[in-house]
Amino acid sequence: MILIKTADEIELMRKSNLLVSKTLAELATHIRPGVSTESLDRIAETFIRDHGAMPGFLGYQGYPKTLCTSVNAEVVHGIPSEKVILQEGDLLSIDCGVIIDGFYGDTAFSFEVGEVSEKVRRLLTTTRECLRKGVEQAVDGKRVGDVGFAVQEHAEKNGYSVVREMVGHGLGRHMHEAPEVPNYGRRGTGPRLKKGMVICIEPMINMGGRQIKQDADGWTIRAADNLPSAHFELAVAIDSGKADVLSTFSFIDEVLQKQNI
Ligand code: MF3
Ligand code: CO
Ligand code: CO
Repeated sequence: MILIKTADEIELMRKSNLLVSKTLAELATHIRPGVSTESLDRIAETFIRDHGAMPGFLGYQGYPKTLCTSVNAEVVHGIPSEKVILQEGDLLSIDCGVIIDGFYGDTAFSFEVGEVSEKVRRLLTTTRECLRKGVEQAVDGKRVGDVGFAVQEHAEKNGYSVVREMVGHGLGRHMHEAPEVPNYGRRGTGPRLKKGMVICIEPMINMGGRQIKQDADGWTIRAADNLPSAHFELAVAIDSGKADVLSTFSFIDEVLQKQNI
């Protein structure tokens, strides 16, 4: 069953997704070669609690941390660790969740550590474009397959592949609600999107093949060919005409622009 949120519930979800967006921007000021992913996790947990919220991932199905930090060929669900030290040229995807007033925020961004190669930069740009094209389809009356089709078409046109096993999802009082929102699909297929639904669109795009494997830690998902993978995620409320995007990358973009002056 796909839940329809009231206008008040959507405002609560805007709050939780805004806090995740700000947490990611706070992390952006700390990302540099030499920093451990564990230290980013501590910063995020402190920031979230200081803002009166609870980490959304911590304890979720036994997950041990506040963030998922996935480096290079890691697709998603990398576990922050003191042993993972960021290196110049790394691609770092950070996924973060919070709970405020019982509602989840869930948003992810892929960062460049120092200077990355032109190839990685193009993967990041294209994956973010895939997300934007998916969000453009997330309006009342369209179907879940329209979102997936838009994401997949743009990824494959650019020579990349779409991870199939992991998908976007409904968001609300639970982190994962119906419907599943695959990053591939056929136009005009799948559940119909209706005003008041809230979904996370989160393309996971591989530079090489789409196959993935899971590490022995039981969480980390990586590209089977060990080529880089990017991940961006936004929570959107379905509305007529245009999606109401509840998370935002604007705070992150502000931080990154200042760093590049
Ligand atoms: N936030 C992820 C998603 O986008 C799920 C993380 S599961 C966790 O759906 F256990 F790692 F938190
Ligand atoms: Co997420
Ligand atoms: Co998600």
